[in-house]
Amino acid sequence: MNNQVLSTDFLIIGAGVAGLRAAIELCRHGEVTMVAKGGPQDNNSFYAQGGVAVALSEEDDVDLHFTDTVKAGHQLGSRPATKALVEEGPSRIHELIEWGAKFDTVDGQLAFTKEGAHSRHRVLRAGGDATGSEMVRALSTKAQGLKNLKWLGNHFGVELLIQDGRCCGAIVLDEQKGTCKTIWASAVLLVTGGAGQIYARTTNPPNATGDGIAMALRAGAILEDMEFVQFHPTSLYLPSSPPFLLSEALRGEGGILRNNRCERFMKQYDQNQELAPRDIVSRAIWAEMQKTKARHVYLDVTHLGESFLKERFPTIYSTCLRYDIDISEEWIPVSPSAHYFMGGVKTDLHGASNLPGLFAAGEAACSGVHGANRLASNSLLEGLVFGLRAAEAASIFSKTSSPPSTMTPFIARQSSAQHMSEQDVEKLRNSLRRLMWTKVGLIRTGESLRKALDQLQQWSRKLQLPPFNRTGLETQNMVQVGRCVTEAALWRTNSVGAHYREDIPFFKGLKWKVHSQCQQIPVRAPASHSHKTNKPRRT
Ligand code: SIN
Repeated sequence: MNNQVLSTDFLIIGAGVAGLRAAIELCRHGEVTMVAKGGPQDNNSFYAQGGVAVALSEEDDVDLHFTDTVKAGHQLGSRPATKALVEEGPSRIHELIEWGAKFDTVDGQLAFTKEGAHSRHRVLRAGGDATGSEMVRALSTKAQGLKNLKWLGNHFGVELLIQDGRCCGAIVLDEQKGTCKTIWASAVLLVTGGAGQIYARTTNPPNATGDGIAMALRAGAILEDMEFVQFHPTSLYLPSSPPFLLSEALRGEGGILRNNRCERFMKQYDQNQELAPRDIVSRAIWAEMQKTKARHVYLDVTHLGESFLKERFPTIYSTCLRYDIDISEEWIPVSPSAHYFMGGVKTDLHGASNLPGLFAAGEAACSGVHGANRLASNSLLEGLVFGLRAAEAASIFSKTSSPPSTMTPFIARQSSAQHMSEQDVEKLRNSLRRLMWTKVGLIRTGESLRKALDQLQQWSRKLQLPPFNRTGLETQNMVQVGRCVTEAALWRTNSVGAHYREDIPFFKGLKWKVHSQCQQIPVRAPASHSHKTNKPRRT
């Protein structure tokens, strides 16, 4: 196998908002190599519709943003991390505006929307419902002008390089040539996003297969809070379409949920009705679907009017129209879909993982800001704030640590085992997505989780991957991430935030304020996962 050896000061794996913000900072300190599977737009950030929450409006302040974030996260978030998010957020947004980001305005002033669980109008948007793509555009334009930045698109992160207990690079697959590259680096930043694709229904793009999270696990990093997967209440439900996201902002602007008997039902579940936190709205929809024996409920925005909808939600309006739904005239069939991972690679306040030299930010990381349930529109802000924080810490780390002792090429391990065919890999991947959806989804039970875990363990044993094949590597990552979510969900014997156990439906129970941790002993022997419970700590 051809194997090129490269070296760089900083290796960034992933290219969403967190990665781009980090790259802009790191280019001031050395040479940066940024690798990402697919093209520059194949990331979750690019598809984010609703917006970016930031305490910048006249009626708002950072303390209120802090309180709403902690409350939505059911007090399980880290207070120092949340403080950093809300306090540094305004500067990151001003900076982005200086770099050319165009957020929507009304009468020349920034326009703020209210979304679920926000006590104030605080969500900025761009292009109506295309906030993520505008932020990625502005950051990419800024990054393109930096001479220290080397971009390697269509490169898939396969394995992290660990030497003397520290992370010093990665092996990446050139997807087009089918060859590997060994990239040595003083510090590595994982910004690979989440793993929504492990679920049969997800708002995430096909790329969201948890590659960074699984790679970090295999290298010995600690994953935290993996049981907390956020299900977005409203994605388009049509048998023939993928579950396209219908932004929370639709409800923020007055959208109403109705069950299949045409009844508005949210009042029975929360006084904030459609603007209750996401975990509550998603479970309410699920309950209504069970009650009325339907596969979906409806989102009614017809009263908002055609011209408003076309201008405020151009992407949503035109996408629904493509599926023959005129949202100004018809109710939209919707149901929940997997949307966001609150858990991920455990990091400190500066994006550092437990492995020296390995940093993480954005959805791949568990910085602690989201607790058990993310407040709507906090993730793009987290990408900006913690992308920069991780970059600053990585540059300090590289100055104070010595370079890797050897820089040899990675030698592919030959296996005599028979590889699974591509079709079998595809089949397993689909079965995995169905299993996670039915047994480790919005509503879980001890029994469903145990069954899922048993199946996942069997798959882990039988997975004989074709070497250097992206689908195979992704599937391996999906099985590993699925297993961590399932183990963590089984470990948490209470219901809190996005994690709901029907067999333990009482709200929190005793000793709920703890965090699951998942770590794999990094030996080349069969994987062993362990869950360590932190002492109950104040968060
Ligand atoms: C949405 O627009 O509802 C998604 C944005 C987010 O998840 O914060």
